[in-house]
Formats: sequence, C-alpha cells, structure tokens
Amino acid sequence: RQIQLDMARIEKDGHKHFMAKEIAEQPTAIDRALANYLAQDNSIVLPEALDFSQIERLTLVACGTGYYSCLVAKYWFEQIARMPVEVDVASEFRYREPPISADTLAVFVSQSGETADTLAALRYTEGKAKQIAGLVNVPESSIARESDIVLPIKAGPEISVASTKAFTCQLTVLLLMALKAAEVRGHALPENVLEDMRALPGLVHQAIAAENSIQAMARDLAGARDVIFLGRGALYPIALEGALKLKELSYIHAEGYASGELKHGPIALIDETVPVVVMAPRDALFEKTVSNMQEVMARGGKVILVTDAEGAKMAGDGVHATIVLPALPDVLAPILYAVPAQQIAYYTAIAKGTDVDQPRNLAKSVTVE
Ligand code: G6P
Repeated sequence: RQIQLDMARIEKDGHKHFMAKEIAEQPTAIDRALANYLAQDNSIVLPEALDFSQIERLTLVACGTGYYSCLVAKYWFEQIARMPVEVDVASEFRYREPPISADTLAVFVSQSGETADTLAALRYTEGKAKQIAGLVNVPESSIARESDIVLPIKAGPEISVASTKAFTCQLTVLLLMALKAAEVRGHALPENVLEDMRALPGLVHQAIAAENSIQAMARDLAGARDVIFLGRGALYPIALEGALKLKELSYIHAEGYASGELKHGPIALIDETVPVVVMAPRDALFEKTVSNMQEVMARGGKVILVTDAEGAKMAGDGVHATIVLPALPDVLAPILYAVPAQQIAYYTAIAKGTDVDQPRNLAKSVTVE
C-alpha cells in the first residue's frame, strides 16, 4: 500500500490530484503548443494543406469543454480574420444535418479524439466541407485519423476528468489559426500579438500563483447552492466554462451568462445566497460590467470579481472578493482567465470534499452516444 501511495504521488508530481498537476503544467504545455506552430522569426507554421485563402467560413464542433474553446475561437476568427463562424455541440450538429457550403473548413476539437458524437459530426461533413481539420491532443486518435488536417495541441497526457491544460492549449492553437487566417486574408493582426503570445506561459504561471486568494474564497462558495458566472465578449465562454467546471467538480448548480443578459432573466435569482463570479479584465466594455455588478450588489448579491489591478481599482467598494490577474492584451484574456475558472472549481471541490479527479457520473472520454 505504501508503494502504491508513493507511485501515485510520483505520477502526480507531488500534487494532490492530477487536476492540480495539470493546472500547474499549463505554462509548459502552452509553451509546447506555441513552439509547435510559431517559428523563431514569428511566422505561424500550420500544416501546408490548410490554406485559408481557399476557405470562406468555418464550422467548429466539439463537446463539453472543447465546445467552449470553439465559442472563444468564434470571437477570434470573426474579429481578427473577419470570417463567419458557426459553432455547435456535436450531439446537436450531427442530427440537425445543417447545410455545409463547399468553401467551409470544418474543425473538430477533441482532447481525446474519440468522442462518439464529435466523430459522427465529422463523418457528416465528409464530402461536404472543403476540408476537415481535427484539433486533438491524441494524434493517433480516430478523429485525427479521419481528418484531412491534424493539428495536435501538444498538451501532453491529461488524466483528470475535468479538462484543464487541453483547454488552454486548444485556445492557443485556435488563436494561432485565427491569426494565420487574418494574415493570409490581408487583415492586420493585433499589434505585437505574436510577441505577446510568447509571454503567455509566464503570465499563466503568475495567474496560477493567485490561488491563495481563490482558496480562501472557495470556502465561501462551497456553501452556496447556486452560483452565477458572468463574462462579456470572449470572456463569456470562459464564464460558461467556469460554471461547467464548478458543476462537474463540486456538484453546485452553476450557470454562465453573458453579462449583458443578466437583466433578461438571471437577475431574478440574485439574493445574498447566490454568489456571482464576474470574469472581467479592464477592457473597453469594463464600465458596462461595473454597472452589471452594481445591479447584483444592489440586490444583496455577493460579487467575486476576477480582473486586473486597474479593474480592481475601478470596480470600487462593495465587491465581496477580488482575484487579481496580470494585465494583458484583450485578445489573450480568455486563455489567462481560464486558469481561475479552473481553480475556483478545484478549491471549491476540495472544500466540499468531493472527488476532484473522478467526479461522479462523468467519464474522461465518452465513446458511446
Ligand atoms: C467528457 C469529459 C469532458 C470533455 C468532453 C469532450 O464529457 O468529461 O471533460 O470536455 O468529454 O471530450 P473530448 O475528448 O472530445 O475533448
């Protein structure tokens, strides 16, 4: 038994759970993904077969956490490369049988590369889309084998059921794809974006270090029955991911909403028992988010604000707890803000005593319908 325990500790690299290990590995994993697609001279090197000059639209399909990567990527492809993007969950996509025009790049995002619904959705696009790309962590997987173009995300083996480093690596590769598409199609890239991307591993490392403030706050969250996550723009999918992770790991009911939707329904839920986690870097729309927070606080709601130092200052009094992350260019914020989304769920689960690596009723890879 002693030997078994020692082995488990070695496998987890001294961490208590695989999830903690995999959260901590994100700087290295993102670095590896960058090294795979970004050359020394800052040229983005994607598989040659992927030619964005021949593609007019994208369809992105995935399940679970991968679906939220796709939702973030929609903002990037639309805003930076000016390409229309459709995103769907695989289980809906495959039976909806949507029309696919011949100038479409269909991208299937899957950590395992084996999710049954995603594979079936891929097969549906065969012979319809111009090209099929598989964004996978397992290059030998079924989705990789059946794709025209394989984009490994280079996260390394992910054991914990809840996806962490695969998510931030998916985002990293999807952003590089959007930037490449912009370049090929003659759209200016956000200033210094490639240099800034090289700083990501260091910033993610700093974000992970914010865990002390999260640990303290997670003890409060552990007592909640419902939690709401809010975010705007490309942080909206991160709010959805934060809510999904909290549900999965701590079994607390959580919902993610676009901040602007608050007044169209979820505000009815707000009272002193419903914490509201707001994912809001100080960006062009930050003031709108501040007024959303005031609406919550006016109803007795407890706001937990995830922001940068500037945002923390502007938010003013009344915020229940603040998690401060390093400031960074807007385009990169979803990748950095994924980290506290993971840690909030992780530490809340620890405070509740639930099984972090193997949550009840969930499987790492769902290979049956
Ligand atoms: C399962 C896992 C999730 C994962 C989803 C999609 O539901 O519990 O963490 O996001 O499958 O898996 P995939 O391997 O296709 O990314």
